[in-house]
Amino acid sequence: MPTLPKTMKAIAISKPGGPEVLVPVERPLPEPGHGEALIKVAAAGINKPDALQRMGGYAPPPGASDLPGLEVAGEVAALGAGVSEWKIGDKACALLAGGGYAEYAAVPVPQMLPVPRGLGMVEAAGLPETFFTVWTNVFERGRLVGGETFLVHGGSSGIGTTAIQLARAFGARVFATAGSAEKCAACVKLGAERAIDYRREDFVKVLKDLTQGRGVDLILDMVGGEYTQRNLDALAVEGRLVQIAFLQGAKVALNLEPLMRKRLTLTGSTLRPRSVAQKGEIAAALRAKVWPLLESGAVKPVVDSTFPLAEAARAHARLDSSVHVGKLVLTV
Ligand SMILES: NC(=O)c1ccc[n+]([C@@H]2O[C@H](COP(=O)([O-])OP(=O)(O)OC[C@H]3O[C@@H](n4cnc5c(N)ncnc54)[C@H](OP(=O)(O)O)[C@@H]3O)[C@@H](O)[C@H]2O)c1
Repeated sequence: MPTLPKTMKAIAISKPGGPEVLVPVERPLPEPGHGEALIKVAAAGINKPDALQRMGGYAPPPGASDLPGLEVAGEVAALGAGVSEWKIGDKACALLAGGGYAEYAAVPVPQMLPVPRGLGMVEAAGLPETFFTVWTNVFERGRLVGGETFLVHGGSSGIGTTAIQLARAFGARVFATAGSAEKCAACVKLGAERAIDYRREDFVKVLKDLTQGRGVDLILDMVGGEYTQRNLDALAVEGRLVQIAFLQGAKVALNLEPLMRKRLTLTGSTLRPRSVAQKGEIAAALRAKVWPLLESGAVKPVVDSTFPLAEAARAHARLDSSVHVGKLVLTV
């Protein structure tokens, strides 16, 4: 077993605020507990929830690291008791409940997946948070199947670029919204049949035109607010609306009549507080059904840009500006 240092460099949230509150710190190395592995981090993915946590929302669940970072890729550096599936030196990517912005991170092994063949550490680090989220919300809760129609809002986001490609790979007709012509072009390149610039077009009208008035079978939404009524209006009979965030607010006045008339399902979920066992089930489904698509190149991670760990604040400034397409990744 290689000798491990006692401390590591990490990025902490010094107080709630803008990107500048992300500061370098020295921390003790996390110790892998029973059923956990310690990963020597090569790259860590950045997600919108990290920015929400930085601003004082989205607190880590009990027992999770206070350091930001929901996903990493790297090499297994140590194993806790009771772990036989992994060995030291294996390359893995992992979903974390926190603590990814660091040189080492401890993770329950059910939340680890092998780095897909053909992908580097940077690409692998950006997979877990969006792929777990899209899988469980689009295919499990949302029950999307081939031949159905699917709309994802925020199509150029980390979540959006993943959802477009996976829905397309499983045979759905995919539509996306995004906030500029360039972002719409990126969505189409990833497999959206039509991307809707929400600053210039009404997505309800465009979708009705594209589906001969029928509407879409599934919407994955992170916006909420005034989108919620329009989402219900844009759904087909037996349609499903899956909510994964409320960037424009969770409190809305709604006419729920379409719920009855069209027999709609309104649901949602958040990944971080779910149990290790539930995350492990999602990991197993991804390994069986999605990892082969990554290894064949049918689905490709979209990395917008990388920043050294020490420059996490600069990376968050780019995340906040929302000019990015796909994932931002920290390199360690
Ligand atoms: N529930 C869960 O388990 C879960 C897990 C992971 C992420 N999420 C949520 O999923 C969302 C995407 O995460 P991410 O990491 O992929 O984020 P991201 O890459 O930062 O993207 C955020 C996207 O939101 C769009 N947007 C921001 N404000 C908006 C507004 N007011 N109206 C419409 N669109 C807006 C932006 O697109 P434009 O520039 O085109 O507006 C941008 O593409 C976040 O809200 C995050 O909290 C939820």
